[in-house]
Amino acid sequence: MKQQLTIALSKGRIYKDTLPLLKHAGIEPLDDPETSRKLILDTNFPNIKLIIIRATDVPTFVEYGAADIGVSGKDVLLEHGGANVYEPLDLEIARCKLMVAGKPGTLGTGRRLRIATKFVNSAKRYYASKGEQVEIIKLYGSMELAPLVGLADAIVDLVDTGNTLRANGLEPLEHIADISSRLIVNKASLKTKSHEVNEFIQHMSDAVKLNSASRRD
Ligand code: ATP
Ligand code: PRP
Repeated sequence: MKQQLTIALSKGRIYKDTLPLLKHAGIEPLDDPETSRKLILDTNFPNIKLIIIRATDVPTFVEYGAADIGVSGKDVLLEHGGANVYEPLDLEIARCKLMVAGKPGTLGTGRRLRIATKFVNSAKRYYASKGEQVEIIKLYGSMELAPLVGLADAIVDLVDTGNTLRANGLEPLEHIADISSRLIVNKASLKTKSHEVNEFIQHMSDAVKLNSASRRD
């Protein structure tokens, strides 16, 4: 008898990009979270369920064992800090960069900068590692607005195409980290459900290789 596996995903980008990887493992959800209000989705495997939660909550659900497995952006893991989970696989999806951005000419003035970000811990660590004193303002979104309305000199945010920055007259200034989504696993589940968990990791790892091969073609 197969053990139950609960997999935590967030709506939007992560769900959309994880779906083809799950499909490669033969796993298909029976509902679409974009149209259904259900938070627990059955799949074509009676022992595998998906739970749909906020991206920032995924490490918490996995750490506490409310989900055995999760898919989480490295930005979220870095910000969460001490999530006590295994991180066995880079899924190479939802790739972007954590960057400092602002108006051209923002840096190098010698003034103490005010930085707006939702990545407060990552920003603090970054500036501490540079030995630079900054003031950090916590925001929950639309960071690009902050330098435009005088709330901050610069932002720490995710950048992919750079379109959002360009559309707002901002530019990338400093690179902090390369970001992609990771498979994370509850430590107890790895022991108590080792067969199911390891089989799942293996399937996902095969799917990642297939994905990166098709990107190269
Ligand atoms: P929440 O709903 O909890 O606020 P969110 O809005 O950040 O989360 P998404 O926008 O779906 O959630 O982003 C999920 C993950 O996708 C991020 O944690 C990051 O790793 C990655 N990501 C975010 N923006 C981009 C982007 N523009 N391009 C590629 N990947 C991105
Ligand atoms: C993310 C991020 C940037 C944007 C960068 O926002 O916060 O605003 O993507 O991507 P780009 O460089 O390709 O323009 P997202 O699209 O997730 O919107 P949200 O955070 O407001 O949900």
